Amino acid sequence: MGAAEEIAYLDNAASTPLCPEAAEAMAPMHREMYANPTGAHRMARDTRRRIDDARDVMAEALGSEPGEIVFTGGGTESDNLAVVGRHMQVGGVAVCAAVEHHAVLEPVEHLGGRVAPVDASGVVDLDRLAAVLDESVTVVSVMLANNETGMVQPLGEVAEAVRSGAPQAVLHTDAVQAFPWLDVASLAACADLISVSAHKFGGPKGVGALVVRDGVELSPLLLAAARSGGCARAPTTPRGLLAWPRLPKRC
Ligand SMILES: Cc1ncc(COP(=O)(O)O)c(C=O)c1O
Repeated sequence: MGAAEEIAYLDNAASTPLCPEAAEAMAPMHREMYANPTGAHRMARDTRRRIDDARDVMAEALGSEPGEIVFTGGGTESDNLAVVGRHMQVGGVAVCAAVEHHAVLEPVEHLGGRVAPVDASGVVDLDRLAAVLDESVTVVSVMLANNETGMVQPLGEVAEAVRSGAPQAVLHTDAVQAFPWLDVASLAACADLISVSAHKFGGPKGVGALVVRDGVELSPLLLAAARSGGCARAPTTPRGLLAWPRLPKRC
């Protein structure tokens, strides 16, 4: 492709270019904000403050408390942490809808879980979901908006089915595709775990978050992550999250 050749990029659901505001917000992070934020010195505290600012912005957009935001290396890690982290913590059976992204489907299948069918339009079939729920189920994952069809799932009704059919289960929703377009804070208010990823709306690759509601316990996927507060990654890893407050929100 020549430098002057114009292209029409039509694959934004797969990934978006870094927006100028995010690039600008991230520029100082290698030059000036390189201190480990767990340190006690001034540079560490400054970095920590910037990360906390990003955390506040994410929490507001996701309808959570700042302390409920776990930074991850993107949507895949958020989804894996929700399903596998829950299973490692409490055991039991994992359930997901048949149309989930592979970042959910594969962990559920790997753990020997159950897959609930969808109807012809790709919406989860609530009766058939109810049929795979019971006391042994500890996590149910149903995405908010689908990455291929754009279909939005009736999460409130899914949550009701889960509360009555699988009282030990937490509800996870993959909101990676929904977040740039929909009001995830209200649509996913019924979910215990919510995955998002920055590169779907102008942010850097390798930056994501999982909302983990207060009281929901997950095992970390990366041991030593306890240093950064429970099940998160090492504190120096997801520094691209400093771009998050500058990302355009289209909903
Ligand atoms: C619905 C959904 N979940 C998860 C992912 C994975 O996100 P990431 O690329 O940040 O790992 C994607 C990306 O294609 C997605 O569309």
